[in-house]
Amino acid sequence: MSQVNDTQTAVLILAAGKGTRMYSNKPKVLQVLLGEPLLTYVISAAESVCPSAIWIVVGHEADSVREFCSTSPVQFIVQENQLGTGHAVFTALPKLNAAGVKHVLVINGDMPLITSDILRKIIEASFKVDISFATLTLSSPGSYGRVIRNNGELIGILEAKDMVVNQLEEPCEVNTGIYYFSLEKILELLPMITKDNNSQEYYLTDIIALAIKNNLTVKTISFGNDWHLLGINTPKELINAEEVQRASVVEQLLTSGVIIHAPESVRVSPFSVIEPGVEIYGPCEIYSDSYIASGSIIESHCWIKNTIISNNVIIHSFSHLDTVRVEKDCTIGPYARVRPGSVMEQNSHIGNFVEMKKARLGYGAKAYHLSYLGDVDVGEESNIGAGTITCNYDGISKHKTIIGKKAFIGSNSSIVAPVAIGDEALIGAGSVIIKDVPENRVAIARGTQKIFFKKEQ
Ligand code: UD1
Ligand code: CA
Repeated sequence: MSQVNDTQTAVLILAAGKGTRMYSNKPKVLQVLLGEPLLTYVISAAESVCPSAIWIVVGHEADSVREFCSTSPVQFIVQENQLGTGHAVFTALPKLNAAGVKHVLVINGDMPLITSDILRKIIEASFKVDISFATLTLSSPGSYGRVIRNNGELIGILEAKDMVVNQLEEPCEVNTGIYYFSLEKILELLPMITKDNNSQEYYLTDIIALAIKNNLTVKTISFGNDWHLLGINTPKELINAEEVQRASVVEQLLTSGVIIHAPESVRVSPFSVIEPGVEIYGPCEIYSDSYIASGSIIESHCWIKNTIISNNVIIHSFSHLDTVRVEKDCTIGPYARVRPGSVMEQNSHIGNFVEMKKARLGYGAKAYHLSYLGDVDVGEESNIGAGTITCNYDGISKHKTIIGKKAFIGSNSSIVAPVAIGDEALIGAGSVIIKDVPENRVAIARGTQKIFFKKEQ
């Protein structure tokens, strides 16, 4: 993918607003679409065009936005009071200027459907213009700023909040909220923006009319009615956008050769990769950086996040997998829960109501029924009987259990960590194991069965 080589170009993402129209305590850019906050999508698109100079304007709930971005290569600018999009860019100017930035691509942080291809097109189309911005033509333009022209000639942008109500539903060209600016030019214009409007805010969009008045070159870049440029302000817009993105991902997967039953109920993150030859039954959800290799089957009602699944794995219904690695030929569930840090090596199996947490099941190991396997390493071909619990927590710290190869843990045993059970050891059913068991030995730790006559006999 081509990137902007010119080190003087930066991306500025506006993410300081509260998102009042979402009626939520969460900052709008952290609202979730297909398992990821909106901001993840915008940063990801920006990263592929301009990886080394991404700036984010934060304000409302700044700390939670910063914390969320802590692993992304981005820099922050704080807008203490959110006085409008014009004020957000104005606040960023000194830092951008000091960093030697010459051109800035400004993106509203509430555009999660945006792609790197679109950003690249905008940058390419902006060659040698002072200011450009991307537009859409919408049949229901709602709250978007309207592009105003006189005999085809651009005059400026009129915000919906400043229009008369009966003009609002006419189809028209609108501002999408992505702009490309020559920094030198907007340094002069931004201080001229006033808050003389119905919202009493400094509108970034006022810069267009100001630039035209000052004889700068201003260009609109039209994207027809491409949904990738839609913004999100309300719960309804969030869910509509999520549905459009969901349908698009599922359609691409079907076209590539993934069999998806009940496709309308399958939700896959665009960051997940599913190979042709996988079979999925809806409803189910697959999020984050998951990878599913061909020949695997995901039955209905599964929830899978950030998980690598190798070839020919069967995940039976109602299973929940989070940050896990599953090697080939494994089976999971139904009703299994596999928690972060767990690894199932080739041909290992877990069945109904088995929970794993930071657990490794070696090659061919099995735990078919009703178990908790936490902080445990299970050697190859061991069998964990029904109801086995690894007691990994003593109320203060977590401890580890080690079970060797070809061991047999009888049903309903409690293995109290830290403890080690050797290769080919056998644990009698119902045992509470508190001491290490050497290899190839039998351990039984339970009350002895006694048989009495009934009193009356
Ligand atoms: C904005 C545009 C509108 C355009 C629409 C596209 C303005 C004045 N209007 O309207 O023309 O059609 O986007 O979706 O720009 N933000 C800050 N600081 C602030 C205010 C906002 O960082 O003080 C951020 C928000 O977090 C958001 C972005 O700027 O990510 C856009 O703000 P929003 O309030 O959603 O603008 P719109 O009303 O949608
Ligand atoms: Ca918006």
